[in-house]
Amino acid sequence: IESQILRHLSSSADASLNTYAFSQSLPAEYGVSHAAVLGCAKSLAADSYVITKSNKISYFQLTLEGTNIAKDGSQEAKCWKAIKAAGEAGLDKKGLEAAVGSAVAKVGMGNCMKAKWITKNGDSLVSAVESVTDAVQEQLNLVLAAEEDTNGSVLPAKDFTLLKKRKLVKAVDRTSYDITRGPSYALERKKKAADLTKEMLDSGAWETTEFKPYNFATVGEKVGGGYLHPLLKVRAEFRKILMQMGFEEMPTNKWVESSFWNFDTLFQPQSHPARDAHDTFFIKDPAQTVSVPEEYYKRVVKMHEEGGSGSIGYRYNFKEGDARKNLLRTHTTAVSSQMLYKLANQPGGFTPQRYFSIDRVFRNESMDATHLCEFHQVEGLVADYDLSLGDLIGTIETFFKKIGITQLRFKPAFNPYTEPSMEIFGYHPDLKKWTEIGNSGMFRPEMLAPMGLPPNVRVIAWGLSLERPTMIKYRIKNIRDLFGHKVELARTKTAPVCRFD
Ligand code: PHE
Repeated sequence: IESQILRHLSSSADASLNTYAFSQSLPAEYGVSHAAVLGCAKSLAADSYVITKSNKISYFQLTLEGTNIAKDGSQEAKCWKAIKAAGEAGLDKKGLEAAVGSAVAKVGMGNCMKAKWITKNGDSLVSAVESVTDAVQEQLNLVLAAEEDTNGSVLPAKDFTLLKKRKLVKAVDRTSYDITRGPSYALERKKKAADLTKEMLDSGAWETTEFKPYNFATVGEKVGGGYLHPLLKVRAEFRKILMQMGFEEMPTNKWVESSFWNFDTLFQPQSHPARDAHDTFFIKDPAQTVSVPEEYYKRVVKMHEEGGSGSIGYRYNFKEGDARKNLLRTHTTAVSSQMLYKLANQPGGFTPQRYFSIDRVFRNESMDATHLCEFHQVEGLVADYDLSLGDLIGTIETFFKKIGITQLRFKPAFNPYTEPSMEIFGYHPDLKKWTEIGNSGMFRPEMLAPMGLPPNVRVIAWGLSLERPTMIKYRIKNIRDLFGHKVELARTKTAPVCRFD
C-alpha cells in the first residue's frame, strides 16, 4: 500500500496537482480496507513523505425501504395504480389491501387522499386524476444518482426533511483524506534508525544514518527501581501528622543503648523482669558503655536507693555494672529520656517542647503471627509546666483522630516510669471490636527530678507500634508478611500510598 501511494504521487512533476483523495478510490482500486490505507498514509505523514488533509463530507444515504421505493415506486403510487385499474367501481379498503398488501395500503391510502389522487364514493375509493407523478420515487433516485457528492444539495431541505421523517433516507458523515507530497517525499521510504549502535560508531555510518525523531510522548518502560515499604509509607504519614501538631523529631538512629538510659533513668528497678536476658538482647562486645553523665548518674542512683521528691525509692543496692550493660534498646523511651535530660540542662534552662520519634526497637521474644523480635515504635511526648492528665488524653485523642481512630478508651495500667499510666484502646470499625493500640502516661517525678527539670514541669507521653496500624491499613493478617525475610517483594512493589483522611 505504501509504495502504491508513493508511486501514485510521483505521476506529476507538479506536486500540487497530485492530490489524491484516496479514501474513495484507492482502497477499492487495490482491494484493501480504508483503515489500512489510512494507517499507511499516517505513517508516511509522520516521516514527512506525504501530507494528509482530512475532509469531512455529510450526505444522505437511502435506507433499505428507500432503496425499494427508488426501484418500485412509493406506497401512494402503488395504491393509486391499483385504484385506477379498478375503474369507476373503485376499490374498498379490503380490496385495496388485497391488491397491494396491508403495509403499503396503510401508508399509501392516506397519502393518496392528501394528494387528492383519489376520492371516496360511499365505501369505495376511486381515482380522481388521469395520471400521477411519483415525486418520492424521483427524489430518491436523484439522491441515489448523486452518490456521496449530494451534500444535501440535490433536493430542497424540506424534501429531505420529509424523506427523513418517512425513514427513506438517513444522514451520513464520512471523512476522506487528500494526500499530497510532503517535504521528504521520495518514491521509496528509507527506514530510519531508532537506535545508535556500536557498529554505526565503529564504521562511521552514524554520520549518514537518518534517525527517527525522539517520541517524548511515549510511555516509558517500567523501571524496576526501589519501592517504599508499607511501614515507611505509614511512617511518612505519621511523621507529617506529628509535625503538623508541632512535634519535633528526636534522633533515634542509635540502636545500641546502655541499660542506664534504657532502664535506670526511667526509674525502672534493676531487678525488674524486663531487664532479664529472656526479654532483652544484651550486647556482648562491647558489653559495657564507656560513659554516663557523672553527676546525673549519681542522682539517678540516689533516687533508686533512697528516693526523693516525696518518693521512698526502691531501697536496694544499685549496681553500676548493671547500669553500664549495653543492649539493643527495648523502647524509644530510652531516647526520650536523653532528650529530656538535655532539655533540662540546655543553656538558658528548660523550655517547653514536643518531641516524637518513629524507629526500631528490639525485644527478645518468641515470634508468632503478631510478635517479632524487632518492631517500630511511635513515641510522642510533651514537656511543659503544669500539664495534667486531661492534656495527655486531649493530645492522644487529637493524634488518633488524625489517623482515623475516633473512638478511644483509656484503661489504668502500670509502667515503672509513668504514674498515672493508661493503656489506649481504639474501636476498630472493620473488626468491630476494641483493640489495644498504645500505652501512655505521665512521667514520674522520680524520673524527672534527677534530670534537673523544674518541679512543676510535667511530661506526658505515649507510645504505640507502627506495625499494628500498618497491618490494619494494608489488611495484613500475619506480621511476618509485613516485616522480615518472608515478605513478598511484589507486595511492597504494589502497595498503594498510605493516607489517613
Ligand atoms: N515505652 C512504652 C512501651 O514500650 C510506651 C510508653 C511510652 C508508655 C511513653 C508510656 C509513656 O510500651
